[in-house]
Parts: sequence; C-alpha cells; structure tokens
Amino acid sequence: QIKNLEAEFEAKISRDEKIEPKDWMPEKYRQTHIRQISQHAHSEIVGMLPEGNWITRAPSLRRKVALLAKVQDEAGHGLYLYSACETLGISRDELYEQLHTGKAKYSSIFNYPTLTWADMGAIGWLVDGAAIINQVPLCNTSYGPYARAMVRVCKEESFHQRQGFEIMMKLAQGTPEQKEMAQDALNRWWWPSLMMLGPTDDASVHTEQSMKWKLKRKTNDELRQQFIDQTVPQADLIGLTIPDFDLKWNEERGHYDFGPINWDEFWQVVKGHGPCNKERLAARKGAWERGEWVRDAAMAYAEKQADRKEK
Ligand code: ACO
Repeated sequence: QIKNLEAEFEAKISRDEKIEPKDWMPEKYRQTHIRQISQHAHSEIVGMLPEGNWITRAPSLRRKVALLAKVQDEAGHGLYLYSACETLGISRDELYEQLHTGKAKYSSIFNYPTLTWADMGAIGWLVDGAAIINQVPLCNTSYGPYARAMVRVCKEESFHQRQGFEIMMKLAQGTPEQKEMAQDALNRWWWPSLMMLGPTDDASVHTEQSMKWKLKRKTNDELRQQFIDQTVPQADLIGLTIPDFDLKWNEERGHYDFGPINWDEFWQVVKGHGPCNKERLAARKGAWERGEWVRDAAMAYAEKQADRKEK
C-alpha cells in the first residue's frame, strides 16, 4: 500500500503536478516543508523590524507611505506563509513557539542593524532583490499552497525592490554626503545579502533532496550568481561601487567572478551571535506577551458568541 502511494507521489512530482494538503506525502517531505515554509514566514515577520524602525523617521510623507505599505506587505506575506504551513498539520501556536524558543530559524539578513535612511534603500534594492531571485523559482515549487502564496508575494516583492532602488538612485544623485550615505549602506548590506541565499551548495545539507522533491528549483549558488549578475549593472547605473575587489566579468563563464564570502560570519549570525539577534527575538517575544490579553479577549468573545448560538 505504502509502496503504491510512494510511487504515485513520485510520479506526480516527475509530471510537475502539485502536491496538495490532503494528498499522501512522505513524512520527510512534510517536515522539510514545515521547516522551510515556517522559516520563510518567520523571516517575513522578523523582517518587519529593521524597516519598521524607520517609519517615523522617513524623510518625506511620500517615503513614509511607501515604507509603511511595504512593511504591511511583509506582515501579509508572513500570514499567507503561516497559513500555507498550517495545511501541513502544524498549528500557528506551535510555529510561534518554535520561533520564540529559537528552534526555528529566520533569515540571517534581518540580524543586521539599520543605521541610516539609506539602509531602507539598500534593503529594498538588495535584500528584496535577492528575495525575488530566490522566490520566483518557488512559484513552481511542488507543494501547491506554497507555490500559490509565492505568486502574490513575488508581485509585491518586485514593488519593494523598485522602491528601494529608487531611494538609492535619488541618494546617489544627491549631495556628496547623500551619495556617501548610499555607498556606505551598499558596503554594509552587500555581503550579508549574498549570504542570505544560503551556504554554498557543497555545504548545503538540504539542497540535494529539496531539488529532487522540486521544493527548491535552483541551488543556493545558482541563485547567488544570478543575483550578482543582475545587481552589478544596477550599481554601475547609479554610480555606486560594489565592495568587492575581486568582482570581474568572466567572458568565458558569462558571469561575474566574485571574492570570498565570510562564511564564518554567516554561521555566527545563524547561531544567534549576529549584531541584532537578541534584540529581534526579544521584540517578537515581547509583542507576543503584550498581545496575550487581546488573544484572550478574542477567545472569550468567540466562546460567548458560540454559546449564544447554541441557546
Ligand atoms: N539565514 C538563516 N539560516 C539559513 C540561511 C539564512 N540566510 N540560509 C540557510 N540557512 C540554514 C538552513 O535553514 C539550514 O538549517 P536547518 O537545517 O536548521 O533548517 C542550514 O542553514 C543549511 O542550509 P541549506 O541546506 O542550504 O538550507 P535550505 O535548503 O533550506 O536553503 C534557503 C536555504 C535558500 C534560504 C531556503 O530555505 C529558501 O529558499 N527558503 C525560502 C526563502 C526564505 O526563507 N527567504 C527568507 C528571506 S526573504 C524575505 O523575508 C524578504
């Protein structure tokens, strides 16, 4: 019986058909999806913090409106992703618990501080730019609810990327101080953005299996190369310099060669020792604790309504 189910599952994957919540799936497929989708959801939610920090300090009403909309979109992405994850048989409370206890990861990139307004530009341009490159292939991932959530998420990410690039472009065309601020933000966000796409393929424990299941459609190194190739000309266009002396177009490969990435820094951040890990987790835990009375009141109200209906 199990053999037949497994064969049917494999056949669906090879025909590029979606796996849906009620379909049979191997336990490892379910667990891997819970891991990746929940990490993705947590990243969206924690990702609101570095930018939320700048909403009250945006330099104009127009910038404030755009930033507010973007941060709100991220909340929405987190919520679609939590919902997609719940279809795999895990509750929202368990997912939050995993985040708050440090059992589940969230993206390394959100453990860096946002020091100046230019960081809003750099995050939109680089972080959301890398996120799009990572997420467009996920629109074709094999698990139906994840793939469908990604379609809308990618549309919104593309607005985020453009608003960030436009902030950088304006700063780069501004006074020498403004241009310097943009360059400084690029210097600080470039390497963490490359790390965000995950360890190199030979150090990536999940890639091989996730590619077989068509959870991942491209490897970490493929995505990173695509991100670099796409972003270098954009930096050239606005007159900013990528902080990598080894960066060079390789005619033979048809790609940019780039310098060594500090993987030690990456793993330190992943293990909780980045500049803002403690602050980010404390902010999420604090929000959860402060929201307890709202959850309790909502439950009490729902129970009262249900009681009234019964009577
Ligand atoms: N930050 C934190 N942890 C990471 C990161 C990162 N940038 N990259 C990899 N890791 C972790 C993995 O979670 C894994 O640890 P685990 O086994 O405890 O889960 C370990 O490092 C080894 O990495 P991989 O084997 O390469 O893991 P995976 O196959 O899951 O690939 C990737 C990592 C590319 C991030 C993948 O999970 C993915 O595509 N996720 C969906 C996109 C996403 O989460 N984006 C978040 C940021 S985008 C945004 O919020 C705007």
